Parts: sequence; structure tokens; C-alpha cells
Amino acid sequence: MAFKPRDLSDSVTVRAAAKINLHLGVGAARPDGYHELTTVFQAVSLFDEVTVRPAGAVSVVTRGEGADQVPDDPAQNLAARAAVRVAPDSPVAIEIDKAIPVAGGMAGGSADAAAALLACSRLFDVGWGGEELVAAAADLGSDVPFALHGGTALGTGRGERLSPVLSRGEYHWVLAIAKTGLSTPTVFAELDRLRAKDGVDDESSPPPDELLRALASGDVERVASLLHNDLQPAALSLQPTLRRTLRAGADAGALAGVVSGSGPTCAFLCGDEESAVRVAAELAGGGVAKAVRTARGPVPGARVI
Ligand code: C5P
Repeated sequence: MAFKPRDLSDSVTVRAAAKINLHLGVGAARPDGYHELTTVFQAVSLFDEVTVRPAGAVSVVTRGEGADQVPDDPAQNLAARAAVRVAPDSPVAIEIDKAIPVAGGMAGGSADAAAALLACSRLFDVGWGGEELVAAAADLGSDVPFALHGGTALGTGRGERLSPVLSRGEYHWVLAIAKTGLSTPTVFAELDRLRAKDGVDDESSPPPDELLRALASGDVERVASLLHNDLQPAALSLQPTLRRTLRAGADAGALAGVVSGSGPTCAFLCGDEESAVRVAAELAGGGVAKAVRTARGPVPGARVI
């Protein structure tokens, strides 16, 4: 059914945040090819903005960080697929302003999909509530429900089943964005390969109970000491230069550093904002990354602006 926009001149813009996995425990590969995860997500203040307006056909234009690597073919672009999912017979022109690195392990594509879902559901008044949005989000990708949700959350299943996490205080991050991206399936496959080589089928790390306690009490140093990513050895195996980046962040005074999700972005947790600015300046001067950004978390999920 074709929906009419609320007003033909209407456009809707939604802002959606990047994520860092404070803990990423990866279990065995499932028959459907996905891995069972236990993860703690935090949304951080690096935002993409997605604008949709009614049009004769679906189209996508992307500007900003890594825009040339984002597919403009509506069949491949996750934001376009999200728009079609909401209103299959009511095409939209989509504009994406990117600040979240592409193929960076920070769920940039998922943020754009969550933003497009929310934007189209508002533009056309399709009558979707939270449940329909979350179901569509989970179909589009494992990280898309968290991009809608934001804040801090525990993810299970393939990462799409969320429960909120109590988190006190503000966390100051430095993000080192690598020169070349990593594809998520390639990193999971590399982890399977490394585990098979070591004769391990399932080496999932223990549940992140201590991390959840540290977040609830707002103990930044304890959180830093508990950052953990089972995908990190696979990302380092595929991009060995990331070891240098992680060392440079520690040398610059970060409390701790971790590869974000499937990488290659490295996320460094700092004691406060001034420390983050100092660490960012040092990393930028050290030439270990394509770009260096500061960000704070947690921030809300996708919002109409
Ligand atoms: O869900 P999404 O499309 O973002 O996942 C991209 C790819 O990452 C999957 O096709 C799969 O190879 C890998 N993945 C996985 N286990 C998960 C999530 C993603 O193996 N829990």
C-alpha cells in the first residue's frame, strides 16, 4: 500500500549514534552462520544524520566520513532497505551525513538503518509502535536494535536481544579510525579460523557481571580494566598495525584501549575530558590512524531532530 506523507513538502531527519562494545563475548558459530554473543553496548557521541523525503524512486546520497565507500545502490544500502521495509510502495530520497566510520566496528551502517526506519515511520505515519520498529531492526542487522535503543544495554542472541543496563557517570573516549576498514563477516571467520587452529570450538569469555557492577557504580577505572573483546585477536591478525595503535593510546595516557566490535577502530577510555583531549592530540600527531575523534557516552539512540 502506498502511504501519503503527512505533507508533500515534509522531510524527516533522524540522528543516530555510534556504539562501542565494552564487552564482546563470542560463542560458537550457529547453524545459521551467526555467532551467539554476550555483549555490553554503549552508544557514544559520534552521529550520522539521515534525511528522508518522498520521491518518485528510492535513492541514496551519502556525504562525510568515508562516504565514497557507502553503496548508493538501494538494493545494497542498509538505510534504503530499511526505508523499503517501512513503506514498500512509497519511495523516498535518502541523504546520509556520516561521522561514524564506515566498516569501522562502530555500527555506522546499523545507525543509518535505524535512523531510516524511524524517519520513514514518522514521515508516512505508518502506525508502527516500538515493537514493529524493533522487529524490523532485528531483521535488518544484529546491531540495528541497539542503534534505535542507545544508552547502555546488554545484547544476547546475535546481539539483537537487548536489556537495559544501569550506568552512572560519563565516559570519555578517544577513537582512532584506521585507514582501511574491516568487513564484519571476515573478522568473525578469522576468529573461527584461529579457534579451529588452536583446537577450540567455543572459547566464549565469562559473563560480564563485574563490568555491569562497575557501570552501575560509575567506576570508570574499573570499567577500563574490564574492557574485553573476543574479536580483537581476529582483528589484530587481519590488521597487525592495530597493535601499534593500541600501544600508542596506552603510552599517551588512556586508562585502557580496545578494538571496537569487529574493528578496526580502536577505542580508548580516558579518566576525564581533558585527558581525552590530550590523548587525542598525541594520537593524531603520532600518525597511527587516518583520523582521531573524541566522544562521550552513553548518549540516546535514534532521535528525530
Ligand atoms: O547482523 P549483521 O548483518 O550486521 O551481521 C553481519 C555479519 O557478521 C553476519 O553475516 C555474520 O557473518 C557476522 N555476525 C556473526 N555473529 C553475530 C553477528 C554478526 O557471525 N552475532
